[in-house]
Amino acid sequence: MAGVLPFDDRDGFIWFDGALIPWRDAKVHVLTHGLHYGSCVFEGERVYGGKVFKLAEHSERLVKSGELLGMKVPFTAAEIDAATNDTVKANGIVDGYVRPVAWRGSEMMGVAAQANRIHLAVAVWSWPSYWSPEARMRGIRLNISEWRRPHPQTAPTASKAAGLYMICTMSKHKAEGEGFEDSLMLDWRGQVAEATGANVFFVMDGELHTPTPDCFLNGITRQTVIALAKARGIKVVERAIMPDELAKATECFLTGTAAEVTPVREIGPHTFTPGEISRALIADYEALVRA
Ligand SMILES: Cc1ncc(COP(=O)(O)O)c(C=O)c1O
Repeated sequence: MAGVLPFDDRDGFIWFDGALIPWRDAKVHVLTHGLHYGSCVFEGERVYGGKVFKLAEHSERLVKSGELLGMKVPFTAAEIDAATNDTVKANGIVDGYVRPVAWRGSEMMGVAAQANRIHLAVAVWSWPSYWSPEARMRGIRLNISEWRRPHPQTAPTASKAAGLYMICTMSKHKAEGEGFEDSLMLDWRGQVAEATGANVFFVMDGELHTPTPDCFLNGITRQTVIALAKARGIKVVERAIMPDELAKATECFLTGTAAEVTPVREIGPHTFTPGEISRALIADYEALVRA
């Protein structure tokens, strides 16, 4: 895209295995296990007014994601918190995005990688939220992906593991190619699961319904929005949702660190009108992240 700086050629600092180093020096070798075999976990966080929202929860999830892949991230969650804060400060980020990533290195190159060192890096960049609440309220359009979230015995579905995003990128590329903004993924049973990088909620009869996260990420934003809805006295129902039930939803929105609370106006044959509940939760979320 014209005018967008490539991510490997920027000024600033990246925290890499324990120290801040110049941005352009944060490199890995082409024979890296994480690249070939998907032994890689990551996080996505947002900085609001210089402070990372839910930092401790994200650092803890990163460590847990690694454990689920049998990878011990060589820093504690508290150390990752400190590294993240140092990186935000060193780069002077006010409103931005944080990308911690842990991966197996290059000592062995095969399926087994018992001797490989596990690395950790934290990068941050400026990323203000360009959307006004009113622009958000127009809502986005989703197709329905041909790819399905896997059974928990097929993949470590509770881990934010790089390998699980292969089908997300494929789904999102197809959606964008067809003029949609994102794609709704069903799970292995055919139940509604989530979008390619965000959880999904529906308003049905004044209640908030959302799929039970038993084979996809129980997003930190999802949990936050459930608490905000309950604080408003909105009933929240976590359950199995079949795609044909979308016909009775009046509002729909996505939640995620990047998506925040983003209304949806169309999924496949179903249309929704972003309304009162979406508007209220967008406002509550915006107030909370900047509190
Ligand atoms: C596949 C997927 N589901 C859900 C989420 C939402 O998670 P969170 O709210 O913790 O950002 C994300 C974003 O990280 C994601 O990539």
